[in-house]
Amino acid sequence: MPERPILIAIDGPAGAGKSAAAREVAVRLGLPYLDTGAMYRAVALLACRAGLGPELDEAGRTAVIELARHLEVSFSGDPRAQRVAVNRRDATDELRTPEVSQMASVVSAIPEVRREMVPRQRELAARAGGIVEGRDIGTVVFPDATLKVFLTAAPEVRAKRRFDELARRGVTARWEDVLAEQYERDRRDSTRQDSPLRPAEGAVVVDTTRLSLADVVAAVVALVPRTP
Ligand code: DC
Repeated sequence: MPERPILIAIDGPAGAGKSAAAREVAVRLGLPYLDTGAMYRAVALLACRAGLGPELDEAGRTAVIELARHLEVSFSGDPRAQRVAVNRRDATDELRTPEVSQMASVVSAIPEVRREMVPRQRELAARAGGIVEGRDIGTVVFPDATLKVFLTAAPEVRAKRRFDELARRGVTARWEDVLAEQYERDRRDSTRQDSPLRPAEGAVVVDTTRLSLADVVAAVVALVPRTP
């Protein structure tokens, strides 16, 4: 029997520190890193560019599904500085604007969009394994992952991290807006019908409220089963 590649699912709400931790764990273990949120963000970016907003009517929904079907998304570079190309053009920075974040939460609730993305995620990670980060990796995409981790943190701490991240990138945002948008995204991500955000069966829940990035990385690495 060929050995199964190591696959680590890292799920959790926005601002729990998933991305930074997942990237570092990937570097530490020398494994590929897959940011599934970037795939939903890519659909959202195309939808925003097409002039669509969060209030989608039937025609808007159909247009988003079409965009998802024809989407080409590819990743390149080291996990710490990964670039994302959308329809063959670098879109790394555009994917992280507040507008795209809100829209990603809307488009990711559309079942047809998820049905388009999930097989692609399985294809990208099944062969070589890796660290796969998202909301439904342990529950839906790879329920038999080697290790399932659910990272969480107090809402204000998560919003503060998002706020600081935006400031670092030179994006001016109001604290109240960042907090309100996060509550809205949390609500949408965890109450949607299809693949709502919740810890998978067998997932280890790690509360990062009082942990540094180094602490979180060490905790996740320590959880990886050692092969004899
Ligand atoms: O992790 P992120 O903030 O980049 O995710 C962007 C949006 O996509 C977020 O609203 C949740 C959604 N998402 C999802 O529904 N399923 C995933 N596997 C990853 C992200």
